Amino acid sequence: MKHIFLDLGRQPLANGFREPNQQDPEFFFDLKVLFDDFNYLVSLENFVQPELMFNDQYAYTTSNSETMCRHFAKLAYEFNLQYNKVLEIGSNDGAFIKHFKQENAVAVEPCKNFAEITRQLGYRTYDSFWNFDLSEQIVRDFGLVDVVYSANCMCHIPDLIEAFHGVAHILKSGGQFIFEDPSLLQVIKNNAFDQFYDEHAHIFSLTALQVLLNEAGMTIVDVKPIPTHGGSNRVIAQHINSPNIINKNVERMFDLEAAYKLHQKDTFIEFAKRVEHNKKHLVELVNNIRDKKYALSGYGATSKSTVVYNYCGIEPDFITDTTPNKQGKLMPGIHTPIISPESRMQHKDYVFLGAWNFMDEILVKERFRQYKFITHIPQVTIL
Ligand code: TYD
Repeated sequence: MKHIFLDLGRQPLANGFREPNQQDPEFFFDLKVLFDDFNYLVSLENFVQPELMFNDQYAYTTSNSETMCRHFAKLAYEFNLQYNKVLEIGSNDGAFIKHFKQENAVAVEPCKNFAEITRQLGYRTYDSFWNFDLSEQIVRDFGLVDVVYSANCMCHIPDLIEAFHGVAHILKSGGQFIFEDPSLLQVIKNNAFDQFYDEHAHIFSLTALQVLLNEAGMTIVDVKPIPTHGGSNRVIAQHINSPNIINKNVERMFDLEAAYKLHQKDTFIEFAKRVEHNKKHLVELVNNIRDKKYALSGYGATSKSTVVYNYCGIEPDFITDTTPNKQGKLMPGIHTPIISPESRMQHKDYVFLGAWNFMDEILVKERFRQYKFITHIPQVTIL
């Protein structure tokens, strides 16, 4: 049975940045989150049509983030030593795959602007959504692979069973399926309700993943918590019938998730109460700031902050972001201008930290700041 536990109201596409003169009506949907007590999966109630989100307008570029580039370079180096053939699902602008030889790697990327980049770099690239049919086609064109890698993409896919069957189909016996996505445990621990948005069709616990992967003939052999995207898990799965050695981390993570009761709906009902409380505090703080005529701006035009601004009805004066293709556009839903950090308008008084997943890096970079950061993670705080 499915239980809706969180209602984040009417939300636009979290990465649906608008042009200043854009006239067409903006897409909004009801963002509700549910827990399925059959497989323990936490998902959006209403999946947004993938073509609306992942198309040639997609704004997020991995290569714009130094942290993510370092992350992928390190990881690719580890794989390169051991593996021959790699498939990446959701290859974005090639930040990971570019570390592999062209003849050994194949990319799947439905956003055509990015697919063109890896194609230009000489990689066989399929600009389609991952599904079972595509796995069959790639097996015909390229053969089976040693590794399927996917970062922040599996959680975007509405039909996970089909997606996982496709992975099981294309993996060689003994091959590894390595994927990274935001961790439900971290969401619960950090009160990070803003991890729920259109693109995140699901937020995974290891407990839920095991049920789904088993259904596709795979099992989890290792898991590692990693800091990316506000707290993720890197999961490694293999075919159930291959000679698996299961790392002790897997049992440990299952135990930890059980201790946090991620298999029980009441956990999520409690979480939703904390989210409402968080919203109330944030709105009070912002009202106070506005009453006193202080300035309020935003730092990082993240998808996550789209959720916060729209859920809480907060409209900063402007938002800075380092990503060139977000600059000059308007924040989804609230239509606040996004500007370059180098522009003439400078932060002052209070600044909402939209990019809280880079908090450490930003606090160092902005250590001489004349303004105060506000974060809502794990609770509303002025830093
Ligand atoms: P991201 O981590 O992708 O978050 P989300 O998945 O919620 O969109 O985005 C981080 C954004 O923050 C990205 O657009 C770049 C921006 N940013 C800054 O503007 N300044 C900074 O110092 C950092 C680290 C990021």
